[in-house]
Amino acid sequence: MDKFVIHGGKRLCGEVNISGAKNAVVAIIPATLLAEDVCRIENIPNISDVSMMIKILHEMGAKIKMINENTLEIDTRTVNSYSVSYDLTKHLRASYYLIGALLGRCNFANVAMPGGCNFGGVRPMDQHLRGFEMLGANVSIDKGVVNASAEKLTGSSIYMDVVSVGATINIMLAAVKARGLTVIENAAKEPHIVDLANFLNSMGADVRGAGTDVIKIRGVPYLHGCDYSIIPDQIEAGTYMVAAAATGGDVVVKNVIPKHLESITAKLVECGVDVIEGDDSVRVVASCRPNRCNLKTMPHPGFPTDMQPQMAVLLAIAKGTSIISESVWENRFKYVDQLTRMGASIQVDGKVAVLEGVEELKGAPIKADDLRAGAAMIIAGLAATGMSEIENVIYIDRGYENIVEKLSAMGADIKRVKIDDEPTRIQTAG
Ligand code: UD1
Repeated sequence: MDKFVIHGGKRLCGEVNISGAKNAVVAIIPATLLAEDVCRIENIPNISDVSMMIKILHEMGAKIKMINENTLEIDTRTVNSYSVSYDLTKHLRASYYLIGALLGRCNFANVAMPGGCNFGGVRPMDQHLRGFEMLGANVSIDKGVVNASAEKLTGSSIYMDVVSVGATINIMLAAVKARGLTVIENAAKEPHIVDLANFLNSMGADVRGAGTDVIKIRGVPYLHGCDYSIIPDQIEAGTYMVAAAATGGDVVVKNVIPKHLESITAKLVECGVDVIEGDDSVRVVASCRPNRCNLKTMPHPGFPTDMQPQMAVLLAIAKGTSIISESVWENRFKYVDQLTRMGASIQVDGKVAVLEGVEELKGAPIKADDLRAGAAMIIAGLAATGMSEIENVIYIDRGYENIVEKLSAMGADIKRVKIDDEPTRIQTAG
C-alpha cells in the first residue's frame, strides 16, 4: 500500500506528455480476441487496469509479448478458456468487454460480473445484456456470472434506452462478426468508441458511424491481425489542464487531440484561464484566482463526468459560487467530504453540488474514493497550502501512468511513500 505526500502551493510549469487512453485500451485489448492473427498495439499506458486486462487474457491462454514499455504484441489464437472468474473481474469494470468479445469470437461467454470503480450508486448492465439478446444470444446470470451463448449471432437494430459507453462497446464487439447488419441507435460517441471502431476496421471489420449516435456494423466472417496505436487519453490530459489552472501554472499538455478536450477547454476559459491550442498540444496559463462557473456533466461531446471531481477542486477555490450538476451517475460526490476536510465549502443535494469558492484549501490527510476522485485529491493537494497525504492511491494507479514523475517534472513536490514505512516515520515524528 502506498500513499502520496504532497507539499502544495507550487505553480506547475513546463510540459507533460499524455499517455494512451485507458478507456480505449481496456476495450481494444479484449477486442484482440476477435483476431485470427497477432495484433501489435502501441501507445499502451503503463497502468494497473492494463496489467489486469493483460493478466486476464494471459490466463485465458493468449500469448502476450512486451515489445517495449508501451507496445504489446497479443496473439489470441492460443486462447482455450471462455470462462473468467470473479477473482479476475473484480478488479476491473472493463472486464465486462470480455463478454462481447468472447461472444463475437465463439458465440459463448462465461464471465463473472465486473468490479471496478464504484461511484456510490449501482452500475447496471441491462443495456449490454439486452443488446446481446437482440443479436440472438441467450443470456442468464447465475451466482454473479453472466452466461451468454448463441448458435449464431445475427445483426439487429438496437435502440439504446440510455446512452451507455460500455453497452455501445460491448455490442460492437459482439456484432462485428455476426451475420448481417447491426444498427446501434442512440449510441455513445466518446473518443474511445471511435478508437475501438478504427481498431476493428484495421482488423478488417466494417464499422461505420462511430462518433455519431448511429453506428452501423456489417458482420464479416474473418478478422486479421493489425498494427495500431491507441489515442491519447482525454481525461488524463484534462486532469493536467485543471491541475495547471488550479495551481496558477503554465503547462503545455502534449500529445493530445485538442478536439477531444473542447468541453474542458471551454469551462477553463469560462473560469478565466488561457488555453492556447496547438496541433497536438494545449497550453494552459493561469495567472490569477479562477472565476466561478456552472457545469453539467453529459455524454460526449458534453462535459465528461470523469472530469467532474477535478473541476470541482478548481471551482472550490474560484471567486464566487458555482453549481455542478451530475447527470450521468447517481452519486458522484463522495469525494466532497475529503475536500471539506481541506476547507472547501460545498453543499451536495442529490445530483447537484453548490460550491462557495474559498480563497485557499489547506493540506490535510485525505483519501482517494475512486480513480477520478483520487486525481481530484492530487489537484487539491497541489493547490493547497501545506502538506496533504493521500491514501488509497491504488485507485489512481489504475488510470494515471507515472503521475508522480510527470507532476514532479513540472515542479510539484509530490512523493510516493510506502505505508509499510509508516511506523518508522511516525516514531521519528513522535
Ligand atoms: C464508462 C467509463 C467511465 C465513465 C462512463 C461515463 C470505461 C471503462 N469507463 O463507464 O469512466 O464514467 O463511461 O462516461 O470506459 N447505464 C444503464 N444501463 C446499462 C449501462 C449503463 O442504465 O446497461 C447507465 C449508468 O448507470 C450511467 C449511464 O448509463 O448512469 C452511463 O454509463 P456508461 O456509459 O455505461 O458507463 P460505463 O461504460 O460503465
